[in-house]
Amino acid sequence: MSWLNDPEIYKYLETRGNQTILSLEAFIRQQIEGKVYIWAVTIKESGKHIGNIKIDPINQKHSFAEYGILMGDKSEWGKGYAKEASMKVIEYFLGEEKQLRKINLGVVKSNTSAVKLYESLGFEIEGVFKQHVNYDGIYHDILRMALFNKRNHD
Ligand SMILES: CC(C)(COP(=O)(O)OP(=O)(O)OC[C@H]1O[C@@H](n2cnc3c(N)ncnc32)[C@H](O)[C@@H]1OP(=O)(O)O)[C@@H](O)C(=O)NCCC(=O)NCCS
Repeated sequence: MSWLNDPEIYKYLETRGNQTILSLEAFIRQQIEGKVYIWAVTIKESGKHIGNIKIDPINQKHSFAEYGILMGDKSEWGKGYAKEASMKVIEYFLGEEKQLRKINLGVVKSNTSAVKLYESLGFEIEGVFKQHVNYDGIYHDILRMALFNKRNHD
């Protein structure tokens, strides 16, 4: 809950703080009922929970899925953990296990660390929704980015 109520963390997120135990419990119930793929990112040695990655929704008909990440433990930012965990999840969905064609995401253009992370993972910009969301009185562009499965895309 402290992650989601931290303005530095939700600065570019659709969730705008004001989370309570009740709202989080409702969110978790929703995820379980929707059979959504949501993982905890933990540090191998200590087991410390430092973030979450979610794939939701998955569109089986067109073979793509929507990606989201939140690394809530700020003391662990910049150490490559988001990238390492993302690579595992991407491999799961584009590799042998799920064999999806494409992973998509939306990111606020000014969220430089997230944009850098996605570019370093191979995501490319497919389009821009101009001045699409208003956070704290400022309209922001949303980049739509995607990563194709190289095995079935030329
Ligand atoms: C964005 C976020 C996921 C990055 O997590 P992280 O663990 O710090 O990222 P990593 O250390 O794995 O960095 C991965 C890559 O992004 C780059 N990067 C990360 N933060 C950066 C920053 N502040 N400035 C420049 N590059 C940055 C790294 O250089 C690295 O690239 P490289 O492998 O080419 O060197 C994390 O800051 C976060 O969860 N923020 C709040 C929630 C959020 O905005 N989520 C994204 C919503 S779209």
